[in-house]
Amino acid sequence: MREGAHPGRIAAYPAQNLSHEATRAEPRPLRDEVRRKTRKSTTMEPIIQESELPEPEATRRDANVTESSRANRGWWDRNADEYQIEHGTFLGDDRFVWGPEGLDEVEAELLGPPEELKGKDILEIGAGAAQCSRWLVSQGARPVALDLSHRQLQHALRIGGNVPLVQADAGVLPFKDGSFDLACSAYGALPFVADPVLVLKEVRRVLRPGGRFVFSATHPIRWAFPDEPGPEGLSVAASYFDRTPYVEQDEQGNAVYVEHHRTIGDRVRDIVGAGLRLVDIVEPEWPAWNTQEWGGWSPLRGNLIPGTAIYVCVRD
Ligand SMILES: C[S@@+](CC[C@H](N)C(=O)[O-])C[C@H]1O[C@@H](n2cnc3c(N)ncnc32)[C@H](O)[C@@H]1O
Repeated sequence: MREGAHPGRIAAYPAQNLSHEATRAEPRPLRDEVRRKTRKSTTMEPIIQESELPEPEATRRDANVTESSRANRGWWDRNADEYQIEHGTFLGDDRFVWGPEGLDEVEAELLGPPEELKGKDILEIGAGAAQCSRWLVSQGARPVALDLSHRQLQHALRIGGNVPLVQADAGVLPFKDGSFDLACSAYGALPFVADPVLVLKEVRRVLRPGGRFVFSATHPIRWAFPDEPGPEGLSVAASYFDRTPYVEQDEQGNAVYVEHHRTIGDRVRDIVGAGLRLVDIVEPEWPAWNTQEWGGWSPLRGNLIPGTAIYVCVRD
C-alpha cells in the first residue's frame, strides 16, 4: 500500500488518466533540485499566479470528469500559495478543522474517540497542506495525505511533519483494496468532482470492513444563494435544484475552475449507491468565537443558514 508514499517526498500519479490502469502506475518523483529547495527553505519556486492571468468568465455549464479534474488541478496549483497565506493561520499547521465554521475534530470526534485513532491507517483526501493529517499523526495515527495539486503538497512539505504525501486524483486512488481503517476529507475533492459516486466507490474499495469515511463539503442549500458574505448573500437567487456545475473558463472556453452541486438527497443517494452506510449528517452551527469571514462564509450568514455539511459514512 505505501510504496512510493514516504514522509519528506511527494509520490505523484497521473491525474488526467482517470482509468484504473493509473492505480498501477509508478510514482513520478519530484525533480531532485525542486525537492532539495522545498526541503531546505520555507520559500518555494515561484509559480504562475492566478493574478497574472486574464480574468476568467464565470458561468454555469456542464463539465465532465476529465475537464473538472484538469481545471481544478491547475487552479489549485496556481492558487495554493494565496490559499495558504489567507487561511493557513485559521487552519493551523496541525489542527483538524472541518470547515469555515471552525468545527475541530478534537470536539467533534467524527472519526471516533481520539484514543482509538492510535495506530490506525487513515487516508486524507484533498489534504491540501496536510494540516488534518499532521493532527492525526499527533494522535498516534498513520495518515497518508493525498491531493490533486502538487503545489498544495509542496506546502505540506514546507510545513513539515511526518506525513507521507501522494499526488493523485480522488477518482483513481493508487492504493490496494482494504488499505485503510479510516478516510477523511475536509472540503477536499468531493465539492469539485463531476462523478462523486466514482470517488465514494474508490474510498469504499480502499477501506477495510468497519471503516469510516467522513467528509465535509459546502452545504447544498448555499447553492441557492449568492456566494457573498454580506446581506446580499441572504436572498435566494438561483434554484437549489439546478445541478449545472459552476465553471470559470478562459477566453478559449477551457474550464479553469469547476465546482459541482449535489442536493442533500443526491448526496444521500450517492453515498448509498457507492455501497456505504450513512450514519449522520452534521451541520455545524456558527460559534460565537468565530468572527472571521472565509469567502462567502461569514458570521452573518452562518447564524442564519448552514454553510457546511459533514457526511459520516461506514463501510460495512
Ligand atoms: C478547499 S481545499 C481543502 C484542503 C484542506 N482539506 C483544507 O481544509 O485546507 C480543496 C483541496 O481539494 C483538492 N482537490 C480538488 N479536486 C481533487 C481531486 N479530484 N482529487 C484530489 N484532491 C482534489 C485541491 O487540490 C485542494 O487542495
